[in-house]
Amino acid sequence: MVTSSAPGKVYLFGEHAVVYGEPAVPCAIERRARVTATEREDGLRVHADDLKLDGFTVEYDGDGDTRPDVEAERPLVEAAMGYVNEAVSQVREATGTPEAGFEIQIESDIPLGAGLGSSAAVVVAAIDAATRELGVELTPREIADRAYRVESAVQDGQASRADTFCSAVGGAVRVEGDDCRTLDGIGNLPFVIGFDGGAGDTGALVAGVRRLREEHDFAADTVRAIGDVVREGENVLGTDDYESLGELMNFNHGLLSALGVSSRSLDTMVWAARDAGAVGAKLTGAGGGGCIVALDEGDDALTALKYTPGCEDAFRAELDTEGVRRE
Ligand code: MEV
Repeated sequence: MVTSSAPGKVYLFGEHAVVYGEPAVPCAIERRARVTATEREDGLRVHADDLKLDGFTVEYDGDGDTRPDVEAERPLVEAAMGYVNEAVSQVREATGTPEAGFEIQIESDIPLGAGLGSSAAVVVAAIDAATRELGVELTPREIADRAYRVESAVQDGQASRADTFCSAVGGAVRVEGDDCRTLDGIGNLPFVIGFDGGAGDTGALVAGVRRLREEHDFAADTVRAIGDVVREGENVLGTDDYESLGELMNFNHGLLSALGVSSRSLDTMVWAARDAGAVGAKLTGAGGGGCIVALDEGDDALTALKYTPGCEDAFRAELDTEGVRRE
């Protein structure tokens, strides 16, 4: 039995546009998914206690035909099972054991589908735990690469390397196409997270942006403009010029809104944080619902979010410099 964990993340800048080759800067945060893998004779048995799914256990042979019998939103469960299924395929390929069976236990502090990189963290931790269980140790970059293939498969080929690379290596990272780097000397940014209790369907949201971009030149320009915001943000990162960083986060949120991936509750939390004095606030991740990230050195944005109708949870998030690790 091997347990591994991997962190979630927030996007300082660049989600969605990163799918089209623009740069993005996700930052790992100290909220983790922990996955325990135990080899078994055949098939796959998955337990997940805390994915905001009210807990589920499902046993199936991994052929994708058997549906879990659980009381939870079907798309969320299917998405979770899709990720685990594909992760196990990657483990079988990496270890040269096409028939390997596993018992997989998932525990996570990261709400599912809420923009904090829960699926990437589960996939990264699952690949690490299950390969180690079979006596194979992959490097964080190899895990990131295999986890990226999982996300691509589940999201119909529409995924960037950003979430999975960030979760595998930790810290603040920069991803542009296949070029993935860690950013040193960023330090702890004063992140405040607001969570509306909901989730977005990443595949559908990414597909929506793709359609807009194909239909309208101005949508393609909007995606490029997000890339420009990121490039400008990179010049400010590493300094303590939070005002400029915040202004660029606000710009980034406006551009994501124009692409149709914000929501009323995300906008409400963004404005609550800004009104309370946050220097910047934006949605994080695919959008549609879930989380916003604000930058505030004081306590006011956090307090305001706690009292904002529609905000279910608000908390500070510290940068996690460690990526995937064996527990
Ligand atoms: C989702 O967390 C981030 C997106 O940019 C999709 C991706 O990068 O694969 C929306």
